[in-house]
Amino acid sequence: MSAKKTVRTGIVGAGFAASLHFEAIRKVHCANVEVQGVYALDRAEEYARARGLRVCGSLAELIQMSDVLHVCTTASSHEEVAVAALAAGKFAVVEKPLTGYFGDGTDAFNGDRFPKTVALEEALASIQRMLQAEKKSNGRILYAENWVYAPAIQKEREIIQKTGAQVLWIHGEEAHSGSHAKTYAYWKFSGGGVMIGKGCHPLTAALYLKAVEGKARSGRPIRPASVSARAHAITRLPGFRDEGHIRCDYHDIDDFSLMHVVFEDGTVADIFASDIILGGIHNWVEVAANNHRTFCNLNPNTAMQTYNPVEANFKDIYVVEKIGTKQGWAFTSPDEDWFSGYQQEMEAFYQTAAHGDPVESDSTLAANAISTIYSAYVSSERGGAEAPVRTF
Ligand SMILES: NC(=O)c1ccc[n+]([C@@H]2O[C@H](COP(=O)([O-])OP(=O)(O)OC[C@H]3O[C@@H](n4cnc5c(N)ncnc54)[C@H](O)[C@@H]3O)[C@@H](O)[C@H]2O)c1
Repeated sequence: MSAKKTVRTGIVGAGFAASLHFEAIRKVHCANVEVQGVYALDRAEEYARARGLRVCGSLAELIQMSDVLHVCTTASSHEEVAVAALAAGKFAVVEKPLTGYFGDGTDAFNGDRFPKTVALEEALASIQRMLQAEKKSNGRILYAENWVYAPAIQKEREIIQKTGAQVLWIHGEEAHSGSHAKTYAYWKFSGGGVMIGKGCHPLTAALYLKAVEGKARSGRPIRPASVSARAHAITRLPGFRDEGHIRCDYHDIDDFSLMHVVFEDGTVADIFASDIILGGIHNWVEVAANNHRTFCNLNPNTAMQTYNPVEANFKDIYVVEKIGTKQGWAFTSPDEDWFSGYQQEMEAFYQTAAHGDPVESDSTLAANAISTIYSAYVSSERGGAEAPVRTF
């Protein structure tokens, strides 16, 4: 048997996503992945020490040493880091959201008070710059939308492809009690609130499955055509009563949103996203088709359920993400990363980087998700009026 191809990798960012990526990289089988080092604005030393890595003094140094760059930074820097990697002919694994609009750079910028048409146009311009950089590069954008690779979504892809299903309605949600990243509270770092931060996951899964459906039956993807949306800041309501369970220090972002997407063929998707839900992460997609119906439960799912009568019994046991207590019944996940698609997406990305395989979660899918979301912010600003979606 011939030796595995070696791929040199660099990690940019040293927070939560960078940890997920490192764990998933370690499980890649199709190539011998050598992590060269990490570069980040903060926490790099701690991250590197825990993993036996070296800290790079600059992004340029890490790019030069790597074939693949993992862009695990705050959303506001995805374009800059990914374009630098692509310009050097390298692959860029880019975390969600691909890119967006992060304000005008002034201290006075506030996400609550600026015309959302500006955000849409600027986000589209950022997408164009990234797509241009990809076009000119020997590398590619590998969009780290783990929902595309989650086993439940991939099984649904198979059902749609093999049965020629017509998907009539997709209903999905990502929700929990608030992201941990401090920068998430600010539009200037996140490019918006929960509608982009969490809504991008079920939305991209829906866009992916409709694209799969179109390609299976007619050879061309079915794309989003318009969106009607509402976004709210529930934890910033003057009357919100904080009991310590829900994050509520957001500066200028939404924490509850709904997008109603109409596709080119007239079928629809309804996507909820929120930061106000207790009881752990609620990540799911329901597909209502003309020949079947599916619930894709990413988290929680019933692969395992445990009952623990005493909180302290489980003190050293990871149960499932973002639950407030380990006592009582829990949807304990035997392998949360696997159900979330983290290791499958990394395997697929290294199949592309090492062996040239096609990409399921590519820059076009990412671009259409971001375009839909910023059109949704325009719609929300207009009280939910339907807004057209420009697609790539
Ligand atoms: N797919 C998922 O499930 C998932 C989960 C969490 C976060 N994310 C995404 O991952 C990204 C990072 O989120 P996080 O929770 O890890 O944030 P975080 O705040 O925990 O970490 C961000 C890291 O990026 C670094 N950084 C920021 N700007 C930089 C720059 N210009 N150059 C170099 N380093 C820079 C920071 O120093 C920090 O180390 C976000 O885009 C987020 O949406 C995805």
